[in-house]
Amino acid sequence: MLMKILVLNGPNLARLDLRDSSIYGDLNYSELSELIETTSKNHGFDADIRQSDDEATIIAWLHEAADKKLAVIFNPAAFTHYSYAIRDAAALLSTPLIEVHLSNPMSREEFRHTSVISGVAKGTIAGFGPQSYVLAIIALKSLIA
Ligand code: DQA
Repeated sequence: MLMKILVLNGPNLARLDLRDSSIYGDLNYSELSELIETTSKNHGFDADIRQSDDEATIIAWLHEAADKKLAVIFNPAAFTHYSYAIRDAAALLSTPLIEVHLSNPMSREEFRHTSVISGVAKGTIAGFGPQSYVLAIIALKSLIA
């Protein structure tokens, strides 16, 4: 029996095909989703993988995770750096939320050095390209075991 988790992705992540692959890695969004789905299954999770460019939609998904007590792997993308509304929604969870980034924001422009999400995440995995999601799934598995 697989345990359902949410894997939420913020703005512009569905367009990895157009973004700088030297920063974000070689996979397009559907290849990344496949990697997440397969890795999740291998670790006992049924990943519901979603992407939105819309802040309100992401907040509604976090409310859903809080109501249904689902663990969340979350790449807030640019919302990471300024969305207090998403941070407040993430703070409602009683289940673990793992923040994920493809790139390492700390080694990039200064505006990316702030995460308003990290303070309400169980932990953050950043800088390993698509493997960041794989590492987050492994981390979640060890948290729940
Ligand atoms: C990102 C890093 C953010 O700074 C950026 O705005 C993104 C993607 C990452 O996965 O590396 O859109 O979250």
